[in-house]
Amino acid sequence: MENPSFENNAVRGPINAWVFRALNGYMDYLFGKSKRELFKNHPNTVVEIGPGSGANMRYLKKNTKLIAIEPNVHMHKNLKISAQKYGIDLEIKTLAGEALDLPDNSYDFVISTLVLCTVKNPVQCVNQIKRILKPSGKFVFIEHVKAQENSLLAFIQNVMHRPWHWFFEGCHTNRDTKALLEMSGFSSLKVQAYKSYSPFIPIIPQIRGTAYK
Ligand SMILES: C[S@@+](CC[C@H](N)C(=O)[O-])C[C@H]1O[C@@H](n2cnc3c(N)ncnc32)[C@H](O)[C@@H]1O
Repeated sequence: MENPSFENNAVRGPINAWVFRALNGYMDYLFGKSKRELFKNHPNTVVEIGPGSGANMRYLKKNTKLIAIEPNVHMHKNLKISAQKYGIDLEIKTLAGEALDLPDNSYDFVISTLVLCTVKNPVQCVNQIKRILKPSGKFVFIEHVKAQENSLLAFIQNVMHRPWHWFFEGCHTNRDTKALLEMSGFSSLKVQAYKSYSPFIPIIPQIRGTAYK
């Protein structure tokens, strides 16, 4: 199995840590309703791939054990601050989602929001998520995805891709994550495509959904 490394950037890392933290409230405005529905009745232990600055902790029950898979060390300080604020029992693993060191068939609930756009090898990352989920385990996600071919949004995504990818440390504005999930062999996959409009045009449209192993 390929072992992708994450390059921690000494300049963009801290800037993005600040940006993500500053945007937490706005992300709640854009995605909070979906997250509350998706995370409802979550178990006491949750694995999150790419938690960033901890935007999702506000939706978790107090004392949730959160195993945070975050290869970008510049995010860790904000993760700890959020965990303290929301009463989360945080364990950070400085690992890429493509190379989890967690055991097979062991977790009930895995989250990723706005992450599969950025991981170097999303197929490998999804395979790892499937591997660690229990047979009854659930994967919940919100991702921004490739816009419809030849649309204005697709044009904007393509034009913005290079600077966006550079600034946001690997984010692909036009990745077809919906197709990727549909081909990933989950036994049950529910994907809802939608458009949450904001000034961040390259991250429109989005998908949200759930998958069982
Ligand atoms: C756009 S941010 C989203 C953060 C957070 N999930 C949210 O919804 O605000 C993408 C996150 O994925 C992380 N990331 C990048 N590559 C990753 C990888 N290979 N495995 C796990 N996380 C990764 C980044 O460090 C960053 O924290």
